[in-house]
Amino acid sequence: MINTLEKKLNTIICGDCLKELKKLPENSIDLIVTSPPYDDLRTYNDSAIWNHEIFKPIARQIYRVMKPGGTVVWVVGDKTENGNKSLTSFKQCLYFQEIGFNIFDTIIYEKTGSGPPHPNRYFNTFEYMFVLSKDGKPKTINLLRDKKNKHGGKSTFGEVTRREKDGSLTNKGKKIVNDFGVRTNIWKYANGKGFSTKDKIAYEHPAIFPEKLAEDHIISWSNEGDIVLDPFGGSGTTCKMAVKNNRKFIYIDKVPEYCEIARKRIEHHGN
Ligand SMILES: C[S@@+](CC[C@H](N)C(=O)[O-])C[C@H]1O[C@@H](n2cnc3c(N)ncnc32)[C@H](O)[C@@H]1O
Repeated sequence: MINTLEKKLNTIICGDCLKELKKLPENSIDLIVTSPPYDDLRTYNDSAIWNHEIFKPIARQIYRVMKPGGTVVWVVGDKTENGNKSLTSFKQCLYFQEIGFNIFDTIIYEKTGSGPPHPNRYFNTFEYMFVLSKDGKPKTINLLRDKKNKHGGKSTFGEVTRREKDGSLTNKGKKIVNDFGVRTNIWKYANGKGFSTKDKIAYEHPAIFPEKLAEDHIISWSNEGDIVLDPFGGSGTTCKMAVKNNRKFIYIDKVPEYCEIARKRIEHHGN
């Protein structure tokens, strides 16, 4: 089993992810950061058919390959048709919960760039990032502390009083406020051409997410040396960021042209 996994590490697998996930050993992956097709909004070179019935066995394979405590970040948005939202995102999330995943968080991916405005609805500027963990909470949590504290560097006003285990109050003196605190669960990224990545070739793929988004999740939910998988790898954003942050990667996508883009991006990064 270890051999099967070793052979797949740091490789680009061009194929259908259902078939390819079945070849991976169970309980072997630390982290997935991925974004599947959004309803039928794109056809991805006409070769990727996508609906809830296709999603379900893939979701079960994803559960199988994750290590206990392993984390899946599922980045997804919904189609609006005749003024009605598909809510595929939630259907998928509920299915993940049904098959055993813990829904650890729902993080909002706020985009600076969006499609053209709609004449009679609010501008849509976000997607969901569901953070799922297998068998309880994520085994690795490295919260990002980059939210500027208004009172950073200052000492607290008044003295800090703490309630001890026996219920009594003790005074521990003044405390210096940290410059940065833990960020909220709304994450904002510059997206679109020239912003998501500097790699021009990546834009030959129609739907990439920002490198920084992938990197922030990789840092949050994995450690150096861990295995990061993207079963809907696209232009290779997640895997490139895995390499940059000293993680091992496994890339899967069924479209050969996208596998080639990913290969070039990852190779160019020095590996
Ligand atoms: C939203 S894109 C992912 C983009 C990626 N996050 C990036 O930054 O480049 C979804 C990808 O899933 C791939 N795909 C769709 N169905 C697939 C399947 N059954 N197996 C493997 N890949 C699939 C498509 O070819 C497409 O590249």
